[in-house]
Amino acid sequence: MCGIIGYVGKRQAIPVLLQGLYKLEYRGYDSAGIAIIDKNTSEIKAEKQVGKIKDLHEKLWGKKLEGNIGIGHSRWATHGSPSIENAHPHISQSKTFAVVHNGIIENYIELKNELENKGYKFISQTDTEVIAHLFEDLYTGNLLDTAVKVAEKLEGAYAIGVISKFHPDTLIAIRKGSPLVIGVSKDENFIASDIPAVLEYTKDFIILDDNEIAVLNKNKVELFDIGKNKLKKEITKVNWSVSSAQKSGFKHFMQKEIFEQPRAITDTIAGFNSLDKTELFNILENIDRLYIIACGTSLHAGLVGKFWIEKFAKIPVEVDFASEYRYRDKIITDKTAIIGISQSGETADTRFALLDAKNEGAKTIAIVNVVGSSLSRESDFTLYTYSGPEIGVAATKTFISQLVVLFLLALELGLKRRTISKEDYNYLIKALSKIPSKVEKILLLDKSIKDLAYKYMNTQDFLFLGRNINYPIALEGALKLKEISYIHAEGYPAGEMKHGPIALIDENMPVVAVAVKDKFYEKILSNIQEVKARKGKIISIATEEDKQIRQLSDDVIYIPKTLDELYPFLTIVPMQLISYHIATLLGKDVDQPRNLAKTVTVE
Ligand code: G6P
Repeated sequence: MCGIIGYVGKRQAIPVLLQGLYKLEYRGYDSAGIAIIDKNTSEIKAEKQVGKIKDLHEKLWGKKLEGNIGIGHSRWATHGSPSIENAHPHISQSKTFAVVHNGIIENYIELKNELENKGYKFISQTDTEVIAHLFEDLYTGNLLDTAVKVAEKLEGAYAIGVISKFHPDTLIAIRKGSPLVIGVSKDENFIASDIPAVLEYTKDFIILDDNEIAVLNKNKVELFDIGKNKLKKEITKVNWSVSSAQKSGFKHFMQKEIFEQPRAITDTIAGFNSLDKTELFNILENIDRLYIIACGTSLHAGLVGKFWIEKFAKIPVEVDFASEYRYRDKIITDKTAIIGISQSGETADTRFALLDAKNEGAKTIAIVNVVGSSLSRESDFTLYTYSGPEIGVAATKTFISQLVVLFLLALELGLKRRTISKEDYNYLIKALSKIPSKVEKILLLDKSIKDLAYKYMNTQDFLFLGRNINYPIALEGALKLKEISYIHAEGYPAGEMKHGPIALIDENMPVVAVAVKDKFYEKILSNIQEVKARKGKIISIATEEDKQIRQLSDDVIYIPKTLDELYPFLTIVPMQLISYHIATLLGKDVDQPRNLAKTVTVE
């Protein structure tokens, strides 16, 4: 969940590390730190601060720290509260090694005891500090040998960056279970938890796999497996633009990402169409049951996908929280396939649930945004969403792109299995192609949605209701509001409301209801009446030209007409905007909400 960065090259390391940390801040933001090797003395110099990267940045102002090699870290606490002592980099006892780490060392207590018995003094409560002392303790004179010895001792998941005063030109990185990429360039090289962190310096990346070690100097990158065998790995060229990882005039990344959705949809359709799917359909040919597993927003996309796959391909689909599915008694046959959905491709719950199912014989497919991420490499086949980097912690454009992939997958499966006709397929594809311009139209409502947000911003609780394919959208609407505004919100299937949540309704309770003109329209109108009768406030998301809904609602957001099956692409957009505006009006940090991290690499 933390973010790590490392640099060796011709520039001053500190500005590169800070820039990278700003980009990685979404991964964790309770404290941060950097360490460099001083150009003149070859000593390790470190600075840490509690708070955000800007707090570390301010602390560094005016300090004379010169060096061309260094490591940095943005922390999301797992072991020990946010404090200067617990912030990384951690430095070994004689200040010979500095370490940044993302992940969890499961056997750190045992290792700590061993090291304490040898006289090592610990100053933090973290699991990471053991790694720094281990490097010192096991140092052989050769950095690679030492790294291997340390790796052999560590149990758990980690991506580690290390510098040493004994080797002032070398940066070393080890990966097992947590993401790590190597950015390759002329006269400089980088390590980072993800690509956007160093995208302004290079577009050439090597994706490190588990149990691999990278030794970086200014002019070369050498790769080894844990047995010290030299590896040759391909360079992945990334075509993301630097501006796609910047705010481009928007106030927040989340706002920018909401507005990028028409482009994300178009690119994901194009990406899906250009892919050779022979292998995918070989995998899915005789499948009689699909499981979709994911977390958070990705799970909600999966819930929508279930409707489409069951409707168009007639395959039964079960959707489960990855953290629950992993520990279930799984029923897997040679006709079972698992689809793991994850923006980052690094979410531990999703990865390990999918790997467990794979080990039990399931065929595995990943729907992922980050190229080269762990989930994509661990699955039999990957379908990418082409959203570009998503920086805001609350997922928006990646959700809509996940919907695109699931919709297209359902249609193609339907066509292959002859459960839909070519005419229906063409009709639905044509309707999908019109979605980007319809989303554009909804985005034009931004100002009026902000006014609506102002009206409701001081509410304690919200209810979100939807039926059928729009029920997962109600869940996602509630999640968005909770995540970034800290207002309590619940999403519910509208028909289920009368079995519980109706007790909560009074004149203070706003209810956002998806009441589009689909075949459930009359039914949701009855549910709205039930809220109205109890004096609840109704905010309806309705189809343009629907006059009837006005009489029942306190506020209406009109969206364009589409096919019943495609409404989720449209109904989610006003929900994202409501949450965004309520949270910003309340002065909340929408891009980095408290306690959350964008990529959760712990179970
Ligand atoms: C975290 C993020 C959510 C995200 C979830 C799943 O909780 O804060 O925004 O939906 O992880 O992430 P993934 O990368 O697997 O889609």
